[in-house]
Amino acid sequence: MSLYAIGDLHLHYGTDRFPDLQKTDPDWVGHEEKVKRNCARLIRPEDTLVLVGDHTWGRSVTERRPDFEFIEALPGRKILTRGNHDMFWEAKHTDALRQRYKELYDGDLEFLQGSFAVWKDFALVATKGYTYEGLDTPEHAEKLVRRELARLKAGLDEAQAAGYKKIIIFLHYPPTNILERESGFTRMAEAYGVSQVVYAHCHGRARFHDSIRGMFHGVRYTLVSGDSLNWCPEKIVDG
Ligand SMILES: [Fe+2]
Ligand SMILES: [Fe+2]
Repeated sequence: MSLYAIGDLHLHYGTDRFPDLQKTDPDWVGHEEKVKRNCARLIRPEDTLVLVGDHTWGRSVTERRPDFEFIEALPGRKILTRGNHDMFWEAKHTDALRQRYKELYDGDLEFLQGSFAVWKDFALVATKGYTYEGLDTPEHAEKLVRRELARLKAGLDEAQAAGYKKIIIFLHYPPTNILERESGFTRMAEAYGVSQVVYAHCHGRARFHDSIRGMFHGVRYTLVSGDSLNWCPEKIVDG
């Protein structure tokens, strides 16, 4: 029973609206087949795969359906967390999303946001996170960071109240921006005794080292954006 993670699949089986990069960049062309092949090779039915946001370019239920079917067909238990491009998913309406997904498809995907999921004796806590990337004002970024820190804290408190001592955080955005050595997210991970922080979002080779990778203040940080892994899920915990 191992725990794997990969993010930023950016699937587009149901739409032609996706960035040129995905049509031309050798790191992206045919990436779906690589994901499928690597998952089939690595992941056993008893394993769990966390998909760390930016799942689909589909804008409607119909456009998204083939992308969800692709994910459903991957082996093991699948937990989806929320990325900045997942327009179908409003943080506050995660319960409604779960219910609608069940009603529409009766599938077995799990949607995790601002809360925790249980994997063995670990609590997996997920929220989107946020990092200033120069795309908005610093003031707006600070507001989003505060909101995401509150969501992360809610998930961590819930996990602790339920008695979990082993905790792994999944963020979509990196925990620090390129100018930071630490952040509210890293300090919160340390304060709650979290063993690992897993994040995605940084894709394109120039961005793979935007944030922390490896051990920092006793916490392991792992980037799992799909192209940084050559579309092979990263093993987070061996089991
Ligand atoms: Fe992405
Ligand atoms: Fe992203």
